[in-house]
Amino acid sequence: GTTIPIAPEDAQPERQQPSKLDECRRCELWQFATQAVGGEGPRRAKIMFVGEQPGDQEDLAGQPFVGPAGKLLDRVCEAAGVDRDTIYVTNAVKHFKWEPRGKRRLHKTPVQREIEACHYWLDKELASVKPTVIVALGATALKSVLRTANVTLKNSLGKPLRHEGHWVVTTYHPSYVLRVPGEEAKREAFNTMVEGLKLAHELLE
Ligand code: URA
Repeated sequence: GTTIPIAPEDAQPERQQPSKLDECRRCELWQFATQAVGGEGPRRAKIMFVGEQPGDQEDLAGQPFVGPAGKLLDRVCEAAGVDRDTIYVTNAVKHFKWEPRGKRRLHKTPVQREIEACHYWLDKELASVKPTVIVALGATALKSVLRTANVTLKNSLGKPLRHEGHWVVTTYHPSYVLRVPGEEAKREAFNTMVEGLKLAHELLE
C-alpha cells in the first residue's frame, strides 16, 4: 500500500502547542523533568485534590502523590473516612521543578508564570471531571485554583468558597505536615487536613 497514515492529531488544524501533556512546552520546566505528571482518578470524581507539582518520586513514576506526601495523603483520607480511589488527584503544575543539592533533587516552588502556563491542563481536567469540590492543598494550589496570587492559605483555611461553579476548600499541603517541627504541631496540621477533607465530603450532600 502507498497510503500514508495520518494520526488524528496531525489531521487537526495547526496548533502552536502540542496537545499531549508530556510534550508541553508552555513553560521551561519540561527541560529538567523526567516526564509530565497528569492527574489520576475517576473521570467523574466529586472531589478533586490539587497539589503543587510532582515531587522526585512522582517525576520518576509519572503518577501524582505516590511519594512521602502521597503516603500522608493516604492517611488523611483514611482518617477522614474517604476512599482515596474515589478522588481525582492532580497538581497545579505538571512538571517537577527542582534544584540539585548534592545527589538529591530539591523541590523548588513554581512561580506565578509557571502556574499560569499550566492552567491550560488544569482547565482540561476541571472540564472533564467537573468536581463538586476542589480541595486546594497548600498555597500554590490555592493560587492556581483561584487564579490569583492575592490569596493566603491562612485566610482561606477551613472556609469553603464558591469559585466558577465549584466549592473550593483550602487545607495544608501534606509536605507541610511532614516537615513542620514538633509532634503537637504535626498532629494539629494533620487534623486540620482531616477536617478539610471531611468538610469537602459534607459539601457533596
Ligand atoms: N507534592 C505535590 O504537590 N504533588 C505531588 O504529586 C507530590 C508531592
